[in-house]
Amino acid sequence: MRKWRQGIEKEDEMPKFYVTTPIYYVNQPPHLGTAYPTITADVIARYHRLFGQDVFFLTGTDEHGAKVAQSAESVGKSPKQFCDEIADQFKKTWEALNISNDHFIRTTDSEHERAVKWALQRLYDGEYVYRDKYEGLYCVGCEQYIPKSSLVQGKCPLHRKEPELLTEECYFFKLSQFQDELLTRISKRELKIEPVQRENEVLSFLRGEKLQDLAISRSKSKVRWGIELPFDRSHTTYVWVDAFLNYLTGIGWLWDREKFERYWPADVHLIGKDILRVHATIWPSLLLALGVELPRKIFVHGFFTVNGQKMSKSLGNVIDPVFLAGKYGVDALRYFILGAFPFGQDGDFSLQRLEHRYNADLANDLGNLVSRLLAMVEKYRDGIIPTSGKEMEIDLNLRRLAERAFLEADKCFREFAFSEALARIWEFIRGINKYIDEVAPWSLAKKEEQRERLDMVLYTALEGLRIVALLIRPFMPSTSKELWNQLSIEEKLETQRFPRALEWGLLKPGIEVKRGKPLFPRIK
Ligand code: MSP
Repeated sequence: MRKWRQGIEKEDEMPKFYVTTPIYYVNQPPHLGTAYPTITADVIARYHRLFGQDVFFLTGTDEHGAKVAQSAESVGKSPKQFCDEIADQFKKTWEALNISNDHFIRTTDSEHERAVKWALQRLYDGEYVYRDKYEGLYCVGCEQYIPKSSLVQGKCPLHRKEPELLTEECYFFKLSQFQDELLTRISKRELKIEPVQRENEVLSFLRGEKLQDLAISRSKSKVRWGIELPFDRSHTTYVWVDAFLNYLTGIGWLWDREKFERYWPADVHLIGKDILRVHATIWPSLLLALGVELPRKIFVHGFFTVNGQKMSKSLGNVIDPVFLAGKYGVDALRYFILGAFPFGQDGDFSLQRLEHRYNADLANDLGNLVSRLLAMVEKYRDGIIPTSGKEMEIDLNLRRLAERAFLEADKCFREFAFSEALARIWEFIRGINKYIDEVAPWSLAKKEEQRERLDMVLYTALEGLRIVALLIRPFMPSTSKELWNQLSIEEKLETQRFPRALEWGLLKPGIEVKRGKPLFPRIK
């Protein structure tokens, strides 16, 4: 218990918590790959809220650039109309997945656009931006420059054509001048990059290669769909500069000072490994140039493949998370997505694995536990939660298991080891099942002299379930609520705070449970 108290004190020192996902490109509707960081960020946000922290969770859409304009044109829509529709699709998808974001930012929001222009002007005035010639390989099909490294036998892999060598005038950001500062900040862990192998990757890149200045504009005649440079209206800004600033504008930078100062710096940016390098170089350099504090941490997660293959439109294996949520339930999807493999590593998705874990962990371990326990309470105690009594060793062991589950899951959680945290919680769920099998309430029920013992056993297992409802809450909010309702707990679930609510013995006796439908019907 003392450790739990220490937990509270630790949280009190950090009353706020700001977590972000990347903002998603609108030229692809939401899919399982983009649902992954979103669901994870949601679980993180919900977990910190449970401790009473003032959490801000930001997600949104990245809407400018030539590719978006092309996608809009290909379906005969204006870029704005196209973006509105896809942004709406993202919002609806996140609603369907029970995502509790505090704001949804779009890079076409007028306040965001104004702030980007202000930032560009500031960079220009601070002499971080200059005009020069850009030379690069341009693919007419893609309508953009492509790096040499992505050519296949000298040709654009998408259009199978050799790109042209083009030169044009544009504006550059002096990225190269931040190399040393970045190295210092990252190696001193003022900007943490996790897991550690990702930090090493960034450090060895920063030690081994010279950062080049970054082209941050295109002539409007080439890319119209973008934010104009305030100091040269014939150019639009590079979409990444615009995109990064969402992490600031999403919390009211420049127009809601109080909010911005409350939440910045971000406690964690969740990102995929594909966008690590830009997040570890361009983003902190922009902040340094603007005189804004760096975020505290960047956490890099792995990639989802599907049946061993990369998800892609052309392979036709893009998975719609709303479809999965409809078929298996939102919480089953959330459980699977976080429990399937360690967050920092790659993992493979397959329906067989999802169904296997659904039946084993959700239908058997959790679902069955709830229905059989509540059925016993109905059968032996007319559905009324009995009073606890004398504690025996076996009861004490279950209580200890509950404490351990929380402490260990909490530790895993703070290390972003979500699949491990779930494994700890499930150990406890299996522990309750084992407890019931060992104490065998059905035998106790046969003997009148065991009446008090049966009361104690049922109370202990029910109290275990109350703790389970709390522990699974960030991962499976609807199931947690349903469990809370079936246990008829009067106090609102929303008012429960960790770690106080996890203290053993808070379940009130004398109240009638409400057994409901099975939480997770088995999949045949
Ligand atoms: N718009 C940029 C981010 C700008 S943030 C200032 C972008 N967008 S994206 O839509 O292409 O990708 C957004 C995030 O989704 C990335 O972190 C990416 O790693 C993640 N994922 C996209 N597909 C994924 C998988 N198949 N698996 C896991 N995550 C993946 O990049």
